[in-house]
Amino acid sequence: MKRAPNFDHLARIYRWMELFTFGPWLARCRFAFLPRLLNARNALVLGDGDGRFTARLLQQNPSVLIDALDASPRMLQALVLNASPRSGRIRVHPADARLWIPANPPYDLVATHFFLDCLSTREVADLAARLRPHLTPHARWVISEFATPRSPFGWFIALPVVTALYFAFGVLTGLDRFHLPNHHQALSQAGFTLLDRQQRLGGLLVSELWSPAEHLGGQSPTG
Ligand SMILES: C[S@@+](CC[C@H](N)C(=O)[O-])C[C@H]1O[C@@H](n2cnc3c(N)ncnc32)[C@H](O)[C@@H]1O
Repeated sequence: MKRAPNFDHLARIYRWMELFTFGPWLARCRFAFLPRLLNARNALVLGDGDGRFTARLLQQNPSVLIDALDASPRMLQALVLNASPRSGRIRVHPADARLWIPANPPYDLVATHFFLDCLSTREVADLAARLRPHLTPHARWVISEFATPRSPFGWFIALPVVTALYFAFGVLTGLDRFHLPNHHQALSQAGFTLLDRQQRLGGLLVSELWSPAEHLGGQSPTG
């Protein structure tokens, strides 16, 4: 297995890099489904970097406990700092998500924002299969990701943008991937169902809500 990319030296400047390149758009993706996550009690947040989603979730959901996992110790430090004064509800795990055994299941929420793109399709499928038995039946998995739609916009705009991002993160962190994983295929194979999807910037950015239930019935606590 290849080593996880090293985001340590980006921890302090990550939010400014994002603001400079995408303005408010990535934040809009992260928070798109937040109002539907306010009943979650035990969340697993993977690769949240400097923790802006974690901080907002803790702020808006006064009961949730969060397992925050990231391969970068500096990112985790920034996450705890950003979540202050609510960081007492975070359990921090400096680890590689591809190897990690869930520490405090069952979870009713999983969040991965711009994290699955650090993995291959196979790795996303393995992760999803490993996590699913540790989720409650009504759990939600909220995802933000880049996408390359099959359209002229996808071929001529989205694909070059995503390729340039992979190149930049390859240089900056050692990430050695050049295309997005097929997380739809990976999650579907593991038994997850897509509940809702929003897209932004012509389909370059997507926000999604998934359920671990293959066949859905009834109303869930998280909507
Ligand atoms: C592109 S950043 C995304 C940060 C944040 N979620 C956001 O919305 O901007 C990817 C994050 O995932 C972490 N990461 C990448 N590969 C990982 C792995 N295999 N295991 C755990 N964390 C990983 C990195 O350290 C980094 O903090």
